[in-house]
Amino acid sequence: MCGIVGYNGKNQAAEILLAGLEKLEYRGYDSAGMAFQTEDGLVQYKEKGRVADLRKAVDGSLESSVGIGHTRWATHGVPDRKNSHPHQSATGRFTLVHNGVIENYEKLKNSYLKDVPFASDTDTEVIVQLVEHFAEEGLMTGEAFRKALSLLHGSYAIALLDEQAPEMIFVAKNRSPLLVGVSEDCNVVASDAMAMLQVTDQFIELHDGEVVLLGRGGVTIETLEGEKIERAPYTAELDMSDIEKGTYPHYMLKEIDEQPGVIRKIMEAYSTEDGTLTIEPAIRQAFRRADRLYIIAAGTSYHAGLVGKEYIEKLAGLPAEVHISSEFGYNMPLLSEKPLFLFITQSGETADSRQVLVKVKALGYPAITMTNVPGSTLSREADHTLLLHAGPEIAVASTKAYTAQLAVLAISAYCLGDGACDFDLKQELGIAANAIETLTDAKQEMESLAAELLDNKRNAFFLGRGLDYYVSLEGALKLKEISYIQAEGFAGGELKHGTIALIEEGTPVIALATQRNVSANLRGNVKEVTARGANACIISMEGDSEPGDRLILPHIHDLLTPLAAVIPLQLLSYYASLQRGCDVDKPRNLAKSVTVE
Ligand code: AGP
Ligand code: GLU
Repeated sequence: MCGIVGYNGKNQAAEILLAGLEKLEYRGYDSAGMAFQTEDGLVQYKEKGRVADLRKAVDGSLESSVGIGHTRWATHGVPDRKNSHPHQSATGRFTLVHNGVIENYEKLKNSYLKDVPFASDTDTEVIVQLVEHFAEEGLMTGEAFRKALSLLHGSYAIALLDEQAPEMIFVAKNRSPLLVGVSEDCNVVASDAMAMLQVTDQFIELHDGEVVLLGRGGVTIETLEGEKIERAPYTAELDMSDIEKGTYPHYMLKEIDEQPGVIRKIMEAYSTEDGTLTIEPAIRQAFRRADRLYIIAAGTSYHAGLVGKEYIEKLAGLPAEVHISSEFGYNMPLLSEKPLFLFITQSGETADSRQVLVKVKALGYPAITMTNVPGSTLSREADHTLLLHAGPEIAVASTKAYTAQLAVLAISAYCLGDGACDFDLKQELGIAANAIETLTDAKQEMESLAAELLDNKRNAFFLGRGLDYYVSLEGALKLKEISYIQAEGFAGGELKHGTIALIEEGTPVIALATQRNVSANLRGNVKEVTARGANACIISMEGDSEPGDRLILPHIHDLLTPLAAVIPLQLLSYYASLQRGCDVDKPRNLAKSVTVE
């Protein structure tokens, strides 16, 4: 994961890099560092902890207009100062930041660097030591860099400084995201465009295996073999306001509130001029040719996939299966004759999902990526993309991307079924968007419920049947991820097959009862747990509620209830996290974009 930035321009680099790292902190936040070329040689700063800690350490009078920066999510070596990036070669001539994992770092160390003293436990350090090793053998920096890159197995986005070439940043990319930004005043590099929107909105995509020489006055892109590449910049359609918190205390709360707007935007994006819901003809064709859909995803996107399977089977009549990406790639089930793969991924960068995409493409199967990030790796590598149009999601806990995924899944399934069902999805999605609006207004109620139900609790259970079961899995993930309360989602009938042994006096149970065909059974399951002391609360839906239900959702179409039922669970987790003094947007041990397996 990790975020990297680099600046080469006319202005002071430190503040630009710090502001960039703050925007990239969602990618990793256990330590941060920067290195600068100055008149007195290379200067670097590193701190364990957040970018805010790094900011305090930086000398305000530093003069430098060439620098690189990094915010880390440790893969090799504990998150401490010694292992934080940048890393330097033994003589201090070369300094680099790296995002990714070098799988053969130990082998390279033994083959080329036996006598070199290493200062960290990271895989990364081997890269910078290799560059120095080849430079000492007489290669020019660019050549030494390429030679080192040619030996690496794994993923990397790298920005490298050479004290003897202070006007240049050497850059390379393979399987980790990286963009070059260009403007009259500067050239920059960043893991995500939002980090450098402050200086430019003109970006150039980099492909795997490319190397960049980033000078102040120009950028040269080449293949690893030295062949020049011409690629025009594109304009990043991001607005600074999309990536700021505004008046909100946390991104998560802002993103929860954005959900009704996102649903409306999706309806617009997937409508023809006359207002009919539609998907691209090529995507429709891909579905038509398939005899089975394999949905592949991780985390929250997997939970959206579970709901999506129901939509695809019920509305489009196509059999569908949902798989956790990290399992599927290494233990592929027997596939149907004409499989179609649908990768659901907010970031479009998740390594677990990408390894499956690479494998199914190698087998020659068609693939679609449903993502929030146009141009992301999985989007580029699949045959087709279904965009989520949710706007940047910055809080580590996914909220608006989940509801966007549900909406796009519903629209896709509906269009494939040629609307041959007994309802108007557009109208029903409009009703769902209004319901979400009402529910996002129930903040005070959810804040009190969090205090009353979860204060000082170590564990919590979420129950549901049918679609509510899938939402309960998402509710549990949200709660554990940001409040560290151990939470599990269960199919209502399943708890009594073992886990009910954990229910004791005051155990919190949140039960979803929005599915009319099974709500009576679910209420029976709630009775079973309350009889054993659980502190249960029921969330039901207008028209099927009972006295004593804690929250009643406005009435929406049975198939779309997950869009609304998840909202109180998101808010409950948000307030539980806040009440425990946790870092809502940046929970411990996590990162937004999981680019390692
Ligand atoms: C959600 O709250 C999580 N942070 C996480 O489960 C996430 O959904 C998962 O890592 C998948 O990410 P993706 O959608 O970007 O592939
Ligand atoms: N592998 C490097 C480290 O542990 C970079 C980590 C990453 O990009 O996630 O420092």
